[in-house]
Amino acid sequence: MATTKPATKLDEVHQAVDQLNEQVRSADALMQGVTVLLNEKMLKYNWVGFYMLEPGAQPPMLVLGHYQGAMTPHTRIPLNQGICGAAASSGKTVVVDDVSKDPRYLACSIETKSEIVVPVFVRGQVAGELDIDSHFPAAFMPEDRELIEYCARLVGKRLESEKASRASGAPGSTS
Ligand code: SME
Repeated sequence: MATTKPATKLDEVHQAVDQLNEQVRSADALMQGVTVLLNEKMLKYNWVGFYMLEPGAQPPMLVLGHYQGAMTPHTRIPLNQGICGAAASSGKTVVVDDVSKDPRYLACSIETKSEIVVPVFVRGQVAGELDIDSHFPAAFMPEDRELIEYCARLVGKRLESEKASRASGAPGSTS
């Protein structure tokens, strides 16, 4: 099938994400692939990772999943802490242009200047989030936000269909 030539870098990355989503066999593989792709293709996305809500944890806890970039001390984040906690507890994307001015910010690297955290929804509930840090101030423009929210939606849909097939007792998807 012929694909149209991407007009911009962001279009190119959108296409690459769609292609990845068609190729991978699980939500886990999609999350891993998304972190690699965004970190490699987008120069300002210096740390890219998923935090997922620990099933059944009380109080709720975000646990670091697949990521690309420097090691972070924040492998477990309660919902009342950090930009990550703010995004998960509100169910809203949080964009911080200057992390040094945001008292919620939990430092991961002294090089980080700006951050975006986008919730991942499964059946309307927050299941986790996609977190991206940049060494550049105000790195996340509306078109970046759109791309990152798109990635988070794809992951949410994959998690949703895995949940549905587990609930119906169907064997693992072969597609
Ligand atoms: N900065 C995040 C913590 C995670 S690290 O950036 C990887 C926060 O404030 O929640």
